[in-house]
Amino acid sequence: MSATYHAPARALNRLVTHGWNRAAQLYNFPILQRLAYRPPQDEIIAQLRLAGARRIADIGCGTGILAARIAHELRPEVVYGCDASAGMLKQAKTRSDRVQWRNRQAEDLGLPDGAVQAVVSTHAFHFFDHAAALAEFHRILVPGGLLAIVINNPRGRWAMALQPPAVQGLAYFPSPDEIRSLVEAAGFTITEQRPVRRPLPNSMVPDVLTVARRA
Ligand SMILES: C[S@@+](CC[C@H](N)C(=O)[O-])C[C@H]1O[C@@H](n2cnc3c(N)ncnc32)[C@H](O)[C@@H]1O
Repeated sequence: MSATYHAPARALNRLVTHGWNRAAQLYNFPILQRLAYRPPQDEIIAQLRLAGARRIADIGCGTGILAARIAHELRPEVVYGCDASAGMLKQAKTRSDRVQWRNRQAEDLGLPDGAVQAVVSTHAFHFFDHAAALAEFHRILVPGGLLAIVINNPRGRWAMALQPPAVQGLAYFPSPDEIRSLVEAAGFTITEQRPVRRPLPNSMVPDVLTVARRA
């Protein structure tokens, strides 16, 4: 698999962002959060704790649950919550004033070179222009900095059923092997890649955690 393909997500990103502006109202349902979103957030927080990261960026932070948890549970020097959707960020801003919320695209974060020690992203990478976003993550990370990404592995039957055709048209879910290729091509070394642990069979919500270090 070539690492240089260009995912179709970017061309439709304005539409994606508009969709998330609308979805922001529904996003925080407790059952959805507990089963789908909290387990990957727990994994990311464990990785950040292990790495001892003190300057952190959460990309595609949505309504800000993970970034706010990072701010409150890890008490880092700084945590940026970055998202392209003003609607999602409006919700996020009510959650924590310890997070620096930024209405930015993953591909153009507007942070200085080497600004952070860790870049994390949950359930958003499939919307990004993968190569451009990874180049931007590499730029804002210090050498040796941590990258931790969780997205849905699209290859299972259940996963296909869980992703409505509308989403499939607007995003591209790279397989774990494709993620490896993309991340390595962007100048990172993969340290871990495995399913996210959760209280449901992995075939139902087959999230994959990829952890890497910037060269
Ligand atoms: C499924 S939500 C995930 C939110 C959050 N990370 C979580 O796990 O709860 C996907 C988010 O990605 C954002 N997004 C999509 N394309 C983006 C881009 N190119 N740059 C930044 N954010 C983007 C959307 O606005 C949306 O808030």
